[in-house]
Amino acid sequence: MAKAIVESFGRLPAGEAVEQYVLTSAGGAVAKVMTYGATLTQLHVLDKKGQSANVVLGFDNLQQYLAGHPYLGSTVGRVANRIANGTFSLDGVTYTLARNDNGIHHLHGGRKGFDKVLWKAELAATKREVGVKFTYFSPDGEEGYPGNLDATVIYTLTDTNELKIEYSATTDKPTPVNLTNHSYFNLAGAGRGDILDHELMIAADRYTPADETLIPTGQIAAVRGTPMDFTAPTVIGLRIAQVPGGYDVNYVLNSGGGKLALAARVRDPKSGRVMEVLTTEPGLQLYTGNFLDGSLTGLGGTYRKHYGFCLETQHFPDSVNKPQWPTMILRPGQRYSHVTVQKFTAM
Ligand code: GLA
Repeated sequence: MAKAIVESFGRLPAGEAVEQYVLTSAGGAVAKVMTYGATLTQLHVLDKKGQSANVVLGFDNLQQYLAGHPYLGSTVGRVANRIANGTFSLDGVTYTLARNDNGIHHLHGGRKGFDKVLWKAELAATKREVGVKFTYFSPDGEEGYPGNLDATVIYTLTDTNELKIEYSATTDKPTPVNLTNHSYFNLAGAGRGDILDHELMIAADRYTPADETLIPTGQIAAVRGTPMDFTAPTVIGLRIAQVPGGYDVNYVLNSGGGKLALAARVRDPKSGRVMEVLTTEPGLQLYTGNFLDGSLTGLGGTYRKHYGFCLETQHFPDSVNKPQWPTMILRPGQRYSHVTVQKFTAM
């Protein structure tokens, strides 16, 4: 039987209580999500022998989340990924945002993005599914963004071991919105080595080449003949040495976005665990944990370079400065909506 329980996960420095929701599916999966950052803290799924393991990098205590970490399991917003030089113009007004990415660009919503705020939560369960609905009110001007934004993120665990994440938002002034989840996966189990032997397929014939500071040039290029080509299942480590630092690249999904479609499929050969990612978004950032350096020890062990991979479903980076790309501008009266499903099996 599916079930959900709520437990205390500590207090913020100002005293607010943080809660963690533990969702268990009838299919044997367990997801843990907490109100600080609407963060996925743990995700336990079965392997081909029926053994369960936690497949996302994370911590078992709030202190380590507060001490600083590279978005492990975080909900990222108001705009995930980079905005060049921390500036954009909208309807003739220029906005200036924090340059929190090496002092050059704006990254993942700024100094205090949606990953570092306390969300309100309530259980959202049905017979076959168990879930949590998180809401956050982001006031006009927060982190430099225009408009009061009401944001909702619903995590649902289904009986067939799908973790569904549904995002929505409304605003009272035009504003860019690009929400995603920044979980680092290791299908062999968090902390149990690197992910270079995982086989990855990405349903994208094209990607957005970027400069050395990871701002897209504005071109869209074919993956064919490059180390970015994952159109057929390919071991992540096979060509990673040809990509300086490792993969940190946005793919242009073949689906074009707008409808739920398969974006990626990953398999760990050791455990047989398979994750399929479906999304309504047009883009997918593949990030191979290039900046993990062994300085964090979390669930399952110490997190070294390439110990996790992220598949961040999103609009293309710096879209606010690339009018030719799918817009991330939300206007009053419209509703931002994004659905991503991670489906777990083993074979
Ligand atoms: C994203 C970015 C990376 C890095 C990580 C966080 O995935 O694309 O460049 O900033 O977040 O460390």
